[in-house]
Order: sequence, then structure tokens, then C-alpha cells
Amino acid sequence: MDITTFVVQGRDKALLYVHLLLLTSERAWAQAMGMKSSHASDDKGLNSHARSHVVSRLTKAARAAEELVEALGATDESGASTTDVLEAQAYAAMIQAAMCFEKHSWEACLRNYATAWVVYSALQSSTKTDIYKELLSETIDPSIRYAAYQLKTPRTTPIPVIAHKAFPQSDSALVENVNQLDPTILKQADASQDAKDGESIPQTLTWRSREVKIEDAQIAEAWAAVIQAKKTLSEKVKEIDDDHHFEKAAAYDEILAATGDAVDATKTAIDELRAEGVGSGDPRMQSLQITRTAVNYEMVSWRIGRNRVLTGGDDGAAERYGHGRRRRNKAKAKDEPLKDERELPTSKKLHKLKEKVALYDGTLQNLRTIKELPGVAADEELAAKLDASVKYFEALSNLSIARSHSLVGNVTNALALINHSLKLSEQASSRMPNLAHDPTRPVNVDVSAESIASLSALLTGELQRHRAIVHIDNIRKEEIANAHSGSAPSAAKVPLVDRLYDYPIGGVDLANVVEFPPKRALIPVKPIFLDVAWNYIGYPGKDPLAASDVKAQSAPSATGEQVEQKPEEKQSAKRGWFGFGRS
Ligand SMILES: *[C@@H]1O[C@H](CO)[C@@H](O)[C@H](O)[C@H]1NC(C)=O
Ligand SMILES: *[C@@H]1O[C@H](CO)[C@@H](O)[C@H](O)[C@H]1NC(C)=O
Ligand SMILES: *[C@@H]1O[C@H](CO)[C@@H](O)[C@H](O)[C@H]1NC(C)=O
Repeated sequence: MDITTFVVQGRDKALLYVHLLLLTSERAWAQAMGMKSSHASDDKGLNSHARSHVVSRLTKAARAAEELVEALGATDESGASTTDVLEAQAYAAMIQAAMCFEKHSWEACLRNYATAWVVYSALQSSTKTDIYKELLSETIDPSIRYAAYQLKTPRTTPIPVIAHKAFPQSDSALVENVNQLDPTILKQADASQDAKDGESIPQTLTWRSREVKIEDAQIAEAWAAVIQAKKTLSEKVKEIDDDHHFEKAAAYDEILAATGDAVDATKTAIDELRAEGVGSGDPRMQSLQITRTAVNYEMVSWRIGRNRVLTGGDDGAAERYGHGRRRRNKAKAKDEPLKDERELPTSKKLHKLKEKVALYDGTLQNLRTIKELPGVAADEELAAKLDASVKYFEALSNLSIARSHSLVGNVTNALALINHSLKLSEQASSRMPNLAHDPTRPVNVDVSAESIASLSALLTGELQRHRAIVHIDNIRKEEIANAHSGSAPSAAKVPLVDRLYDYPIGGVDLANVVEFPPKRALIPVKPIFLDVAWNYIGYPGKDPLAASDVKAQSAPSATGEQVEQKPEEKQSAKRGWFGFGRS
């Protein structure tokens, strides 16, 4: 069949012919994929017979696609634009690549995928649409990575570099067409290689004193972004003061996204290796597993950091019910700083405490996630540190609950919870290895010993305060109960002046300050009798004074002791009233 005869007969027929070729190709391709997927569940995969069948279908598809390119390429007759031709070329390259993939001829496979990659990238950047994006990321990128892996290209090489290297530069017509669409694509690869050769991409990653090589380009790039985001975060956090915790928390968005990407990249790399049939004993797999723990730890650690920022200064231990955003706006006005400090209604306070408890819950959940990461439980030091952190956040959570009880007047519950909270905090401090405290560093999972110590100090104070509150509360309740049962009616009748040692729980009865007119009553008088006795009282632990006095007088002797005693004698003589009892 002569193509050109068709084409010259008119546009409609040409279109028909294009469709025919496309459908032929698609049909053969679909048959091949169908055969492949029907064998996918077999343990051994495709056997050689089935594989040759698949290859023959794909060969047919490739041939049709090639004819399509030729037909469109005769642009004088077909009237196709450069873009049409390029699209057809990319399509043919992809089919060809799939065929080579099945034949395991990796070099040809890579070359064809590289062609598709370059053309589709150029099409994407020139049309500014997303239709090629998925094709690139879901089909072409992984295939290039796989073929490159089979050709022993290191995993750290980025895909644009691989594609650029494998792209058939000798095909000047193709190069020219691509450059017409987007002249940067073929150059970009060079540039990105230069950039990647720089020091910005980390080669290794350290996890708990173990250093692993990063062999996957995606992970390396993501990890570089994490390191960069950490720096940015440190700088941002220094500039935002503690009161603006929403702003501070927002500063964490970047690192959370970056660590999330690193986690995804690691997962993809592990899945790819697994799909290649690499066992978990393989050193590559092992270093990826360590990487996975490291990047997950990093991500969760910053999530906890964000939660801690949101709970406020000192991890929300202090009893402050900040105004969050509103407060900041007001502070800008600077006119009414005092108004900010006004008391919130109890319901609002309870709500704030509830929010805090939810944040602590989130943190505790995150800590559990960390503990479940492979290799963490076996790491005794880390596990102890995490346990201590769990206790610390549980103590804080219990403290918030205690405060809620206290707010609604359930002081006994509050006391018990604070007691429990203090115990948890002490357990935390006994387990926590000493971490240096650096207030300028953005907070993450690491709880410093100072934080725990300050929580313990706060809780000790709160415990004493609540003991006192409960004590007073109990007295008050007793009083009220007594007042109701009327068991102590006389108490109310005693005038205030005689009850000054009692705290007036029920208020003061100003109509009963003193008894007037005073009644006759016995009162102690004449302290002189006491004074007489005073000389003869023997106090425990002291020489009986009276006895020595008597001795000194009855048996005077010429010793130094006696001389010394004389002034004392005179003193005590002076002290007595009227000199009674001494002669
Ligand atoms: C209080 O501490 C205990 C651990 O002793 C914990 O199980 C509990 O969840 C904490 N309470 C709250 C409200 O967090
Ligand atoms: C105090 O707590 C107890 C038990 O937790 C509960 O039954 C009681 O209603 C609470 N009292 C107040 C005033 O909330
Ligand atoms: C505090 O906890 C200790 C130890 O569990 C307990 O013996 C004590 O009675 C508790 N005190 C209060 C006031 O709840």
C-alpha cells in the first residue's frame, strides 16, 4: 500500500489513515499488555514462550507507529505540523522502548525512553499543560530509572542527566525539532548536571552514629531539601518571638513538606528494589531501611516540634490562656496592652485546655509512630529517651486535665492528677539522657533536661498549692455541713473578738463583734502567782534552776565556779517581783 497515494487524495483520507495506523498500533500494544498482565500473577512471571508472544505483538505495534511517523513526516503531503511529527516520534519511541524492555535490550530501551522523555518534556514546557506530566512521572521516569539500573548507572544520577546522555544527539532533525519547541530542554540537562555535581547534594546520611550512602538520586535531592529547610527554619524561628506561636508553627510547613518528600522517595526506592526481587538481606536494601527510619524519624520529629510550638512556651506547662492571633493584632496597636491580659471566661479557658490536650495526644501518637520504626526499639538509648518523652508529655497532658478540674471547682480531682503528673515528670527526668538546651534552636522531638526539671518544679509548686486548696475546701465543706445540720449553733454566737483565730469562712457578722453589755465572767489575773512558781519549775533538758540556786546558797565554797555564779544570782534576784521566795 502506498501511503502517499492516500495522503494526496485529501486531508480526510489522511486523517483516516493516521487513525488506522494508531489503532493498529494501540491494538497490538493492548494485546501485549493483556498477555503480560495475565501472567503477572504467576510466580515465575512470563515464560519464554509467552515473552516471545508479547514481543511479537509489541514489534507489530512498533512497526505501525513507525509507519505513522513516516506518514506524518512527509509534511509536504501530510500537512502535519512539527509538533504532530514530534508527538508521533515520541509515541513510536515509547512503543519501541516497551518492546526493547521485554527483549531486555536495555541500551535500546533506554535510548527510546530518553527520546520520549526529551520530546514530552519539550512538549510539556511549550504547551504549558499537565497532560504529559503524568505520563512522564508514572511511566517514563520509572522505566528510565530501571533501564539505567540494568545498565549499572548509579542511582544517584538524576533522570534528566540519564535521558540527556542516552538521547540520540546524532538525529539532527529530531534535535532541531525539539529545539524549536523548547531550546532549553537539551541544554538544561547539562546545567542540571553541573548543579548536581556541586556539594549541595549529600552523598551520605547519618542515623544514630551510623553513616549510610545515599544511592538514590531522588532521596539525595529530597535530603538536600531537608537540610536546606532545617537551616531556613532555624533562621525563621530566631526572628519570631515566643508569643506568636501560630506564625512559628507556620514556619514548620517547609520542613514538613521536605521531610515528607524524603519519606516518599525512600518508600519508592524500596518498592522498586523489592519489585526487582532484591531481598531484605541485600546491603542496598539494608541501607535503604536505615534511610527509611532516619527520614521518618526526621519527619515525625518536626511534626512533634510543630505541636510543641502550638502548645505555647514551656510546652504549655504555664497556666496562660494566650489570645493567639488576636493578641498579636492588638499588640501592634500598642495602645491597650492591658486589655489583652483580661481574664477569659471559664468556658474559653476549658476550650483552650482541651486544645492543648489534643495537641499532646497528637504528640504522644507521633512518639508511638517513632517507636514502631524498624530498629528503634532495639536501640536502648533512643528507646529510653523516647520513653522519657512519653512520660513528659503524659505529665503535661495530665496537668491540663487537672487544670480543667480545678477550673470547675473539682479540686480533689485536680490534686490527684497533679500528684500523678509530678510522678510522671520525675520518672521522665530519671530516664532522660542529658540533652543540652538551646533556646534558639527550633524545637523538635528532643526534650531537654531543663524542660523536664522546670516542669517538675512547677508541678511541685502546684501540688502544694492544691493541697492547701483542698484543705481549705474541706474545712469550708465541713463548716457548711455543720451550719446546715446545726450541730454547732454556739459557734455563731461567740462574738468576733473571741474568734479571731478562726478564718471567717461564712463571712463576718458585724452585728456580733463584741458582747455588749459585757456579762460577768472569770478572767485570769495576778500573774504574781505564776512568778512565785517560776523559780521552782524544772524544765526538761536544763539544770533545775531553783535547785542550783538553793545549793549555791546553802553550801557556799571558795571555788572559781561560785564566783562566776554570783552575777547570775543577782540577776535572778532582780527578776523576781518584790524579791519573794529568795532570802
Ligand atoms: C495521664 O497519665 C497516664 C499515664 O500514667 C496516661 O495513660 C493518661 O493518658 C494521662 N492522661 C491524659 C489525660 O493524658
Ligand atoms: C467532680 O468529679 C466527680 C468525679 O470525677 C464528678 O462526679 C463530679 O460531678 C465533679 N464535680 C464537678 C463540680 O464537676
Ligand atoms: C500521691 O501519690 C502517692 C503515690 O502514689 C500516694 O501515696 C499519695 O497518696 C498521693 N497523694 C495525693 C494527695 O493524692
